[in-house]
Amino acid sequence: MEYEPLQAPYKGILNRYWNRMPADMQSVGKDKIVTLGEGATRLWRARRLEEYIDDTYGNFRAKVYLKLEGDNRGTGSFKDRGMTAAVTMAAAHGKKIGICASTGNTAAAVVAYCHAVGMRSIVIMPYGAVAPGKLFQSKLHNTKAIQIRGNFDDALDIVKEVVVQNSDIELLNSLNTYRMEGQKTASFEIVDELSLLDGPSAPHYHFIPVGNGGNITAYWKGYKEYYDGVPKRLNNLPKMMGYQAAGSAPIVLGKVVKEPKTIASAIRIGNPAKWTEAEAAIRESHGKIDSVTDKEIMAAYELLPKLEPVSCEPSSATALAGLLKAAGEPRSENYFGMGSVIVCTLTGSIFKDLKTAQKVFMKEPPIVIDASYDAVMDIVRSK
Ligand code: F0G
Repeated sequence: MEYEPLQAPYKGILNRYWNRMPADMQSVGKDKIVTLGEGATRLWRARRLEEYIDDTYGNFRAKVYLKLEGDNRGTGSFKDRGMTAAVTMAAAHGKKIGICASTGNTAAAVVAYCHAVGMRSIVIMPYGAVAPGKLFQSKLHNTKAIQIRGNFDDALDIVKEVVVQNSDIELLNSLNTYRMEGQKTASFEIVDELSLLDGPSAPHYHFIPVGNGGNITAYWKGYKEYYDGVPKRLNNLPKMMGYQAAGSAPIVLGKVVKEPKTIASAIRIGNPAKWTEAEAAIRESHGKIDSVTDKEIMAAYELLPKLEPVSCEPSSATALAGLLKAAGEPRSENYFGMGSVIVCTLTGSIFKDLKTAQKVFMKEPPIVIDASYDAVMDIVRSK
């Protein structure tokens, strides 16, 4: 045999976790699943990051895993998990049009998954506040991509009104409960993978950026279902550690932020759609909601690829900035004891926002030299 044969082709998260989906989804039939092969993203053990935290703050004995959701094959963010479920059900219910408000990643996923099943899509984004990669993803397929002079919260208000008045249009924001069913599979993947190493176990801490609060809600749902479900897959539950950007931190502040501001445009949200549910996840898991500054977010964004051979978009780095902040705090709550397992979700690909990537990583562009062996070797041998 000259090559390793492939196992059965991978067909996305719903095929993999179909028996963990609610009865109304299962009654639609597996053959109706709309998938772009999302899920099965890497759980990256970040040993150099562990060393860095230990060097910087001391006494850090925890294992850190990064769940790399930029790996999602659909459109490069965790939104693909929710969208395979929501669009499968929209199509099964005979909806012809999908709509969402979005800071960009949801839009990219809505456009691609609707296109996959032949539905039209309408995506509404805040003008001038969406990373370029996401903006052009919203124009790739048959869609109406709209930018409003307003913010994400304004866009969501309009979308809610549209679906109340037009029953042929399906809401594909995280208010759509099927989105949560899809996104909860990230927890299943984490537990299934960790269990191969150490026996059935959830991480002790789960760090995650919070915008609308949909993802933290979905992860918590997934962990709880593995804990409570039959067969039981877990004996412990993680503390959910949610982080908002300081200029857009309504849950931390306990009040709506009228004009949210942050460099992390994906989570520039002042009135989260899943506010109550996100708070419940934090309370029930005995976790924490906190904020990090733009400076801390950008420092984490830049640090990650210096340490590890992986990267993420700025909003995703909010979770990592949160981990670094928590690691620097007094360990009064026994945080990160010996053998603690930490998972940090990096929600989207660095390629979503090449403008920021360029600013940060191309301060010194690759060197330009003459096209000669000697000129190259001068560089190779230089310090
Ligand atoms: N990280 C990224 C890269 C995101 O795009 C989002 C949300 C979040 C984190 C926060 O997740 O909203 O479930 O708490 N993006 C939405 C969008 C708002 O429209 O793409 P959340």
